[in-house]
Amino acid sequence: MGETIAILGAGVMGETLLSGLLRAGRDPQDVVITERRPDRAAELGAKYGVKVLDNTEAAGLSDTVVLVVKPQDISDLLAEIREHLRPGALLVCIAAGITTAFVEERVPDGVAVVRVMPNTPALVDEGMAALSPGSHCDDEHLARASALLSATGKVVQLPEHHQDAVTAISGSGPAYIFYVVEAMIEAGVLLGLPRATSTELVVQTLYGAATMLKETGEHPTVLREQVSSPAGTTMAALRQLDDHKVRAAFLTAMEAARDRSRELSSGQA
Ligand SMILES: NC(=O)c1ccc[n+]([C@@H]2O[C@H](COP(=O)([O-])OP(=O)(O)OC[C@H]3O[C@@H](n4cnc5c(N)ncnc54)[C@H](OP(=O)(O)O)[C@@H]3O)[C@@H](O)[C@H]2O)c1
Repeated sequence: MGETIAILGAGVMGETLLSGLLRAGRDPQDVVITERRPDRAAELGAKYGVKVLDNTEAAGLSDTVVLVVKPQDISDLLAEIREHLRPGALLVCIAAGITTAFVEERVPDGVAVVRVMPNTPALVDEGMAALSPGSHCDDEHLARASALLSATGKVVQLPEHHQDAVTAISGSGPAYIFYVVEAMIEAGVLLGLPRATSTELVVQTLYGAATMLKETGEHPTVLREQVSSPAGTTMAALRQLDDHKVRAAFLTAMEAARDRSRELSSGQA
């Protein structure tokens, strides 16, 4: 048997991680899940062929325990499992705003904790997860957490003080992109295109542009300049975006998200 992984809380993110791990080749016998709603637990157990246990059993037999409940449920969950963790167990916490110090204070001394901020494209194996080590993590723990998260996309490691910025950029990031896509689709309709056609044009343009960024490795400025001919159509549009301070709005928006993440982390409503 390989490393045993417990996913505590199989909601949206928990199921995403579970299905990614199985697609990446983990044996269903090495993965166990827990879930508060029995009907959901039964459904996932049958769908993925993994064992459904209660939290204490799952914590007691797993090398890596992934906490995927809502931030407000973390404290109770840790109180429930703290006496059942195996020696050498790794705790991976995916709850937004929950610090490694918060988790470490609620488990026995020396337990290794890794904090992770994932994002929703993990659903299609194109996630971006940033992980930060707690005070008792060594390279082996980090490698285990990294391998776990890479089942659903890309992984970077960062010091924990960057997690609020990560939340603002990649955690919330998909929403900004969807917002831009919505605006461009509306613009297409304004210009007389059928809505379905406008949607197809915009979605494929986004996909193509993202693929170019990733595959060429070119800086976005270089790619943008390639489609900005002198006195051309693109420049006419970009000038309007600059006039409306769209770049400045992005900077301010992400500062606001970073600040909100700090507030939530420090327990303010
Ligand atoms: N979704 C995202 O895009 C995203 C992105 C970044 C981070 N995250 C983090 O991922 C975590 C999970 O988010 P989510 O969207 O997956 O939430 P979710 O769908 O509500 O999933 C959490 C699941 O855990 C269950 N649960 C709660 N307490 C439990 C317990 N003590 N034992 C077993 N199961 C328990 C919940 O059951 P009930 O339904 O009965 O409450 C629910 O099914 C959050 O902390 C969030 O901050 C999510």
